[in-house]
Amino acid sequence: GSALSMAMERTYIMIKPDGVQRGLVGNIVSRFETKGYKLSAMKTKMASKELLDQHYKDLVEKPFFPKLREYMMSGPVVCMVWEGKEAVTTGRKMLGATNPLASEPGTIRGDFCIEVGRNICHGSDSVENAEREIGLWFEEGEVLDWESHSKDWIY
Ligand code: PPS
Repeated sequence: GSALSMAMERTYIMIKPDGVQRGLVGNIVSRFETKGYKLSAMKTKMASKELLDQHYKDLVEKPFFPKLREYMMSGPVVCMVWEGKEAVTTGRKMLGATNPLASEPGTIRGDFCIEVGRNICHGSDSVENAEREIGLWFEEGEVLDWESHSKDWIY
């Protein structure tokens, strides 16, 4: 591809059940959209125990994991794929630090939450994990590779 498309990354961003319950879906989507990233996939889903065990495979032995899994199954999540230059690292910056008390104001967690166990959103921490997570949460064909035509009608 071109020099531009070479730099493109995809990241898996998930709005957790508390984000959905609190009506923050639009705000979070809007931040990624207005930043300039491209929405390649989005859906609501009830996470299964098996899917969460795979998603959080490095955390299953942690003492907090049963609580985390219970929280993640407490209601629908919103699964998204956002695409663009350095989407993984920038996505994590937009989410803010894992512990909301350490998240800067202006970030999603910094603006909206206090508890690490209710931190509203998940973002992939590496390009490899992003591809792994996209494969776990989405079926083939649900993730679209589409081209912006806005150049054709915005002057
Ligand atoms: S890191 O950067 O991966 O080391 O972060 P870590 O602190 O290990 O957190 C990894 C994920 O576990 C979640 N987490 C928790 N959930 C509930 N309760 C407690 N105490 C807790 N501690 C960490 C944290 O939000 C990370 O989940 P995601 O979905 O990736 O944000």
